[in-house]
Amino acid sequence: MSKVLPLRHLYLAIPRHLLVRPPYQPPQPLIHSDPTQPMLAFLVPLSLSPLPPLPTPRAAPRPPRRLIPQATAVTPSTSPAPSPAAPLFNWYDQWYPLAPLSDLCPTPTRIVLLSTPLVVWRAAAAWSVFHDRCPHRLAALSEGRLAEDGTLECAYHGWRFSPSGACARIPQLGPVRSPRACAKALPVLERGGLLFVWMGARAPRVDETPHSLEGDARARFVHSCFQRTLPLCFSTLLQNVLDPAHIHFAHHGFLGDRAQAAPIPIRVLSSSAAGFTADYDAGNVRLRFLPPCLVEIVTSTGQSFLYYAVPVRAGLVRTIAIRASARRVLFRAPAWADHMRRNLLLEQDLQLMRTQQEAMRTDAESEGRRDYSRAWGAYQMPASADRLVVEMRRWLENHAPEGEEWFAFGEGEVEEAGMRMEGHVKTCAVCARALKSLDAATVAAKGVAAGAAVVSVLAPEHAQRVACLVPTVIAAAVWAACARLRRGFE
Ligand code: FES
Ligand SMILES: [Fe+2]
Repeated sequence: MSKVLPLRHLYLAIPRHLLVRPPYQPPQPLIHSDPTQPMLAFLVPLSLSPLPPLPTPRAAPRPPRRLIPQATAVTPSTSPAPSPAAPLFNWYDQWYPLAPLSDLCPTPTRIVLLSTPLVVWRAAAAWSVFHDRCPHRLAALSEGRLAEDGTLECAYHGWRFSPSGACARIPQLGPVRSPRACAKALPVLERGGLLFVWMGARAPRVDETPHSLEGDARARFVHSCFQRTLPLCFSTLLQNVLDPAHIHFAHHGFLGDRAQAAPIPIRVLSSSAAGFTADYDAGNVRLRFLPPCLVEIVTSTGQSFLYYAVPVRAGLVRTIAIRASARRVLFRAPAWADHMRRNLLLEQDLQLMRTQQEAMRTDAESEGRRDYSRAWGAYQMPASADRLVVEMRRWLENHAPEGEEWFAFGEGEVEEAGMRMEGHVKTCAVCARALKSLDAATVAAKGVAAGAAVVSVLAPEHAQRVACLVPTVIAAAVWAACARLRRGFE
């Protein structure tokens, strides 16, 4: 039987007695004294290297399809509402994590972000990210190949592009310098083990850096890094991460215990266009929402957790979860085993979140509305434990009231992404490698079992036949174990 751990917040396997400590004293202030940049200032490194120049000209990104024409009513909150003149949140002028660096391969790979297909590839020392369309006749550059001269070659007619996006060669024409022949390159940064991309039409300012664990003394050692694409609306996943009350029920027997459920007094400490900060468990758990897509949780026991909810497109979101601390851990389970456990926990939530979305979709369709992705009007949230979900809703309504595509539910084609193989294993270097080894072990075990069985039948002596049965049984047991383990990847 699984050991039941008394936990008080999301995914933390922390014994309860460790949480009852003197008042929490973070090593650095979570709220900066500069009221204009309260959240960003905490993570801005002391020295910033200049960003690579942007290719010119760069067209403005495709405007998002608006699903919600007007903001709906805002839940009463103690947080101040923005002034009427405050600009709305720009979802494009932001850094987004594309994937853990360890999961990326240098060959051209398509990754979708904000409903925009991108191609990620690496030549020599640096990663490049382009819009995944060739300027010639719009074929996907992710179908291309890495050429010998370190350029990306389009698979259709062989145009080649340098890492900056400049057209290096047109086989049918020779070298060209026209900006119209350039691929659209996006600014990228490697931070905290992740590859970040800037999606905006304008260049990022030097003080606009991605939120990551880089330079954070509380998170010197990363113990786990996990990504998975889920068939969910972006905001549904964010609500789940901001909901400590579900742990004892949705993860009963794994992370929680129904019998331990109790009120969770949550305090929202600050809220602005730059996100919000809250704490609970008598200040032992501090949480920040940092737009566009990060929830950071820090505990008084020295654990740091980053949960990115990266908007892919309608009905699809990618979660990137990182666990770190200031201290090294002597024993760690293999990464693939950690990923298997995380997949299991995510799927416990996934089932419930899908039912939530179905109910909201039914409500919206029965009323002839299209804004079902934020149809939270039917929620009843009287407990303090729901305070963070309320605050998330309030933040979206105040600062980003328009319904972009990634707030919508998906249609049938996203169903496959719910599978573990599609959503995680195929894009996880660790699990893909483990699966390959497992398949090789399965083939070897099958071969040994079959060979030993044949020998045991053909052996002339009874003693030889009996002796051959032993490797047959062992190999068959290994074969069965491999088959069982493989189901954990599917
Ligand atoms: S479409 Fe890319 S070279 Fe023609
Ligand atoms: Fe994995």
